[in-house]
Amino acid sequence: MDFFNYSAGSLHCESVPAHDIASAVGTPCYVYSRATLVEHHRRIAAAFAEVNPLICYSVKSCGNLSVCRTLVECGAGMDVVSGGELFRARAAGAPPSTIVYAGVGKRDDEIAAALDAHIYLFNVESEDEFVNIARIAKERNAICECALRINPDVDPHTHRFTTTGTKETKFGVDIERARAFFRTYGRDPHARLVGLHLHIGSPVYTTEPYVEAVRKALALRDELIAEGFTVSVLDVGGGFAADYETGKSPAALDYAQAIVPLLLPAVRAGLRIVLEPGRSIAANAGILLTRVQYVKRSGDKTFAICDAGMNALLRPSHYDAFHFIWPTETSAAFIPTRREEKPAMTGLVNVDVVGPLCETGDYLALDRAMPPVARGDLLAIFTAGAYGMSMASRYNSSPLPAEVLVDGLQFTTVRRRETYEDLVAHER
Ligand SMILES: Cc1ncc(COP(=O)(O)O)c(C=O)c1O
Repeated sequence: MDFFNYSAGSLHCESVPAHDIASAVGTPCYVYSRATLVEHHRRIAAAFAEVNPLICYSVKSCGNLSVCRTLVECGAGMDVVSGGELFRARAAGAPPSTIVYAGVGKRDDEIAAALDAHIYLFNVESEDEFVNIARIAKERNAICECALRINPDVDPHTHRFTTTGTKETKFGVDIERARAFFRTYGRDPHARLVGLHLHIGSPVYTTEPYVEAVRKALALRDELIAEGFTVSVLDVGGGFAADYETGKSPAALDYAQAIVPLLLPAVRAGLRIVLEPGRSIAANAGILLTRVQYVKRSGDKTFAICDAGMNALLRPSHYDAFHFIWPTETSAAFIPTRREEKPAMTGLVNVDVVGPLCETGDYLALDRAMPPVARGDLLAIFTAGAYGMSMASRYNSSPLPAEVLVDGLQFTTVRRRETYEDLVAHER
């Protein structure tokens, strides 16, 4: 669900024609819909209302300050994984008491900054890390709260690069170690171990892996409580899917209907729930606009060569991810009613939508059925709000794209396009 729709043959973000934005700001350009961000946050909050979660928006999915600020205005906290993301979350106005901090490689300076900020929770991923946090907290005469990230060994059936809760991954500790972890470190006076954290992967297209992971976490919690430990927080992580293809992902309500009944008894007895959605809030809230530079034929193939490639949107080449791509201006015959890989329309042609970089892997879509495109056409790459700009690079000395936030009839450039001078500024 989002607020990107065709009206009179022209793609609009809320009430603003996409081509107006491209004309004013240039391409490539990320365009975010404020109403979509707000609506996705609202849906998650409403679906999980019975367990009154702290919803910590995952900054890594789209960290633009204006996007984060919008979510802070909705009441969201922030899930961060680095000192840089902590800085962003604070710059966006997130109260430190709503910030949770995960990540396997927290550096001393990052831990110190989070302690000084008095964040809500460190999500701890190893024994070494816990010892380090406790040491730094003691040195600063501080007390912080920690949740142990457990690895429930659940397969989320997603891309192997974003599978994070199986035994082979570097995240968290397995359940057997978790018991020993609490026995060894569960009574530290400076780093108070008060919770459990999960993040099984992303995007997770079914609810079963959550059910399995949450059941394992709750069973562990019962055991730990029986041993006299406090486990007052369960952070369920992120990973809810987004609608890359129309109707292919569960809704927030589907995840909630599977998970909430498991959590309710413990919540009624005082357990606090944290959620860390990123993609499910930001992905459908953003598109990437790119201009076709050339159309070329080679052998049997047609290439639409665009001014955005894997530098602007890495997901197709890195994860083999599907993004629906369509011209922003199109005739009545080609107005898409669904976003899908093989639209049921006549007159489509198969093209490789590629970027300008010197890599064969530089593509946005391969062999994609689309209306015929020509030099100068503006294309929209949909569902690009999450892990789009946040994974963009300057490869081939490409200045990073501009970012625009639309609110109703208005749009604002919320990150200016980089200049060539920006590219070399740190090298002078
Ligand atoms: C610890 C943690 N929480 C939350 C998320 C957000 O996941 P998603 O954007 O799929 O909701 C991630 C993503 O990698 C993560 O590593």
